[in-house]
Formats: sequence, C-alpha cells, structure tokens
Amino acid sequence: MASIAACYVPNGVAPLFGSKEAVASSPCTSSVMNKLPLGLGSSGKSRLCVKNGEKCRNSLCHVVMSAEVSTKEKAVQAGKAPKEVPKDSLLTPRFYTTDFDEMEQLFSKDFNKNLNEAEFEALLAEFRADYNQTHFVRNAEFKAAAEKLQGPLRQIFVEFLERSCTAEFSGFLLYKELGRRLKKTNPVVAEIFTLMSRDEARHAGFLNKGLADFNLALDLGFLTKARKYTFFKPKFIFYATYLSEKIGYWRYITIYRHLKANPDYQLYPIFKYFENWCQDENRHGDFFSALLKAQPQFLNDWKAKLWSRFFCLSVYVTMYLNDCQRTAFYEGIGLKTKEFDMHVIIETNRTTGRIFPAVLDVENPIFKERLDHLVELNENLAAISKSTVPVAFKNLQRIPVISAMISELLALYFMPPVESGSLDYVDFEPQVVY
Ligand SMILES: [Fe+2]
Ligand SMILES: [Fe+2]
Repeated sequence: MASIAACYVPNGVAPLFGSKEAVASSPCTSSVMNKLPLGLGSSGKSRLCVKNGEKCRNSLCHVVMSAEVSTKEKAVQAGKAPKEVPKDSLLTPRFYTTDFDEMEQLFSKDFNKNLNEAEFEALLAEFRADYNQTHFVRNAEFKAAAEKLQGPLRQIFVEFLERSCTAEFSGFLLYKELGRRLKKTNPVVAEIFTLMSRDEARHAGFLNKGLADFNLALDLGFLTKARKYTFFKPKFIFYATYLSEKIGYWRYITIYRHLKANPDYQLYPIFKYFENWCQDENRHGDFFSALLKAQPQFLNDWKAKLWSRFFCLSVYVTMYLNDCQRTAFYEGIGLKTKEFDMHVIIETNRTTGRIFPAVLDVENPIFKERLDHLVELNENLAAISKSTVPVAFKNLQRIPVISAMISELLALYFMPPVESGSLDYVDFEPQVVY
C-alpha cells in the first residue's frame, strides 16, 4: 500500500493524482531500510541489483533475475534489442510521504479530545490476536503451477505479482514509519500501525516468494531507495488509505469467490489465500475509519465532501484504467475485467459511504459510460506513445486527447454526488463483511 513516509495501496490501486513529489530521501527510508523484515528478500545494500549474475547499474532496474534469461534479455545483452526499463507513470503503484509532525499533533491527546481510547484499545486487541499468523504458508503447488504458466500469461502473472508486491511493500513502509513516529504521542495508535506493517510485510513477502516461483525477486531494498515519494498531507493520507484498504478488500474477496466457484481458472494457488488475506485489509480499513472518526474536521464540512469525492474518483479511475490495460490477466482467470471492476467500485463505494460525507454516484449508468470513454482515450494516448512519428508531432497529437480526458474527469467529478456518511453508523460496521 502507498506510504507517506510511504503510503500503501493494495494491489496497485494508488490514487491517480498526487501532490508534490519528494525524492527518495523520505524520512522512512533511513529508519526502515535497515530493518526490513524477514521474507522481504531485499539485498538492500546499494542501488545495484543483479541480473543473471552481473551487476546492473540502471537506476530504474529493480527486478533480480536469478536463473532464467528470457529471449528478449539475451537479445538485449547481445546488443540486438533496445533495452527497456520500467517507467513510472501516473498509474504505477506509488510510495508516499507525509507531514509527520502534523500527524503527531493529530494523535496527541492534548490536542485532540475526540480520540476514542476504548475503540482504539479494542482495535489493538484485534491486531494483537494476529488471526493470520499461520496463514501464509506455501506448499509445493506454487512452483508446479508457475512452471505450467507459459507464454504471454506467464508474463502477465509476473507483472501482477510485481505490482501487488510493490503496493503491499509501500504499505509496510508507511505503517512502519507511522508506528515509529507516533510511539510517544499515542502508543496505542502507534502499536496498531506497527502491527499493520507486520501484516503488509507478510503480504509483500508472500508475493515476493511467488515471484521466486518464476525465478524472479523484487529488490525491495533498492526499490525503497530509488522510488520517488509522493507527498500527501495527513488528511489526504486518511482518505486515500481508507479507500485503498477497502478497495483492496473487495478486489481480493471478489477474486477469491469467483475462483472458488470456477476452480478451472485457479491457475496459481496464491488466490486460495485471499479469503483470510482480505480480512487483514478489511481490518486495516476499519482502523482508518476509526482514525477518521477521531478527526471529525475531515468529515463534517463542505471541503470534506469535495475531497471525499476527489479521492473516490481518483482511486476508482486509476483502478479502471490500470485493469483495462491488463485485461489478459483478468480474462486469464475467467473474469470480465470491466464487470469485475464495476462490482468492486460499487461495493467499495457503498462501504465508503458509511464514513465519507459524500461519495460518487457510481451506480448511475453514465458513470460507467464516462469511465469507458476514459479507457478509449487512454488507449489513444498509448497508441500515440508507441507510434514512430517525431516527438514534437506526438506531443501535438496528445493535446486533444489529454484535454478530452480532463473534461471527462471533470464531468465525472461534478456528477451529482450521493450524500452519505454518519459518524454513528460507523459503530455498526461489521468486522467481517462477507
Ligand atoms: Fe496488504
Ligand atoms: Fe492493508
């Protein structure tokens, strides 16, 4: 999940729109980097990574190939193919950083009289119980399933694992740093953050072991240092992270239920773990719900309504565009990408409406029509990027497409919203939604 020393977004669903970017010297990197938990598989010592036994000095290279060398890789090494490096884009999972001093003030009992200690104590007891302590245990099925996955689907699975691992790891960084920084101000909230970082480390480590089935590993230590960090103010972290956790929950549980009903599409056993896994994300979301309740100024005025809608739009659009670029993955496991996404968006929006003061009218058919138009425009942009025309001409071609995207986003944002949210109602939010 995306951070603010690193904020987390499960499954790569980072908000599309960030504020200013900070470079890798985010506060989290120094303190967390030397303490990466077991199982995260970081080399962590320098910006070097190893490709097929050779050190690679490319600052964007972050996947370590341990044994297999693809045809493309051989061609690159032989100088016969252009070297491609992963590029960050608006849709890439991000790491975030925040104003920790303001965060400390928000959770200081001297400054904030709305902190409900009994509720946080109860949540802490839940996290200490550590229901998934023994859940993430691998078996022989993994390697065998990975070996069966060949051709384009293999590459798509690798990308899924890589993006998910990055997103979970970014959550680990954020929560770890918040746990460290809030220790003196509010030890209960701090311990919850630390225990959430435990969960995210587990998730990232499990995904990284999945990559090992494909003879790959993400160099998370390198990633921590090399990635840019997007700065969000604390209140934006609350909105974005709450949404990320809840949308992560709905994605995982929807995939789990679908594959349980259609076992022929169970191509890789990691999905069998999603039922318990998504309960971690649900608990994380409930914690952010409690945090928001403790900061009523973020929920009870017209600005809160505008920001709530903004973050809903940002998270939903990012997921939709991302997933529509990867339909082969969803179709590979028997899902219809757009139907899956709309189900996740509608359920997340209903859940979010319990706490956010306003949400989008995602069940209005016009909402999906506009999303689909954005997908077309995004495909046009991709086609322009791939074309061989001169750069200046490409830039000219992009102008009308980007203008149309902006106007579509504004139209989505200004659709009549659904008034929602009730601080009382949240008390009745079930712990387990399914
Ligand atoms: Fe997670
Ligand atoms: Fe989470």
